[in-house]
Amino acid sequence: MYITYVAICLLGFSEFTLGNELDYDGWLQMRLMHSFDDSPVPKFIERGNISISSIRLGASNVVQIGLQDSHITQLKKLARNGGKYQLKAVVRSSSGSETTFLTSVLACHLLGMDLEDSLNVWLDSAAEPVAVNLVSRGPCTMEGPSTKMWTTNVQVKYPDGGPVPDTATYIHKLEKEREARERGDTKDNRSFLAKYWMFIVPGLILFVLMSAQNPEGGPGGGGGTGQR
Ligand SMILES: *[C@@H]1O[C@H](CO)[C@@H](O)[C@H](O)[C@H]1NC(C)=O
Ligand SMILES: *[C@@H]1O[C@H](CO)[C@@H](O)[C@H](O)[C@H]1NC(C)=O
Repeated sequence: MYITYVAICLLGFSEFTLGNELDYDGWLQMRLMHSFDDSPVPKFIERGNISISSIRLGASNVVQIGLQDSHITQLKKLARNGGKYQLKAVVRSSSGSETTFLTSVLACHLLGMDLEDSLNVWLDSAAEPVAVNLVSRGPCTMEGPSTKMWTTNVQVKYPDGGPVPDTATYIHKLEKEREARERGDTKDNRSFLAKYWMFIVPGLILFVLMSAQNPEGGPGGGGGTGQR
């Protein structure tokens, strides 16, 4: 009986998993820090925050702090020396994971693009961030930007082939989300029954069927069966 129950549960689970992989959506929150000194131990200061409320739609909200004159001076010095502007992104995902990425572009390209850049966030099939990269196409110039504010284009990307429904990573993700929920930092507050009824109901039905077929008269199992 136990084996049948497990088999039915697995069946139910794989249907549930594949169905939900396609429906699944999550969010990402990023804290951006940047550095204008191209040294081995760069000093990072706050650049802003990006929140992606739906990784399926790629909808993002970008809040950034404009550059001060001293930052512009540093950026131009960096450009003259052929140095790289560095960005650090701390990415939190809806599963509760937190990962820090480093990325850099040539400082002169940022000047050439008037502080316009693209930030690409790469996700794996379980929607976990695997890479973040900053891109600024250039041209390379040493002239100061005509603005002090960033224009950042945020894109959510998937490795070749796009998001592949992948049961193993998805189950792993569900486990991580459950752990995150236990710590109380995600929003899925549906009750245990609401989420897992599809596993519990077949089990209960089987249990009832099995009990009906093999009435067991244990000690205290009731007067009726005891008199057989
Ligand atoms: C970014 O978020 C952090 C914490 O979530 C907050 O302290 C900081 O002020 C935010 N920065 C901006 C530019 O909104
Ligand atoms: C879950 O929480 C949200 C707000 O935090 C609330 O609006 C919603 O009714 C809650 N759902 C359940 C099933 O408790």
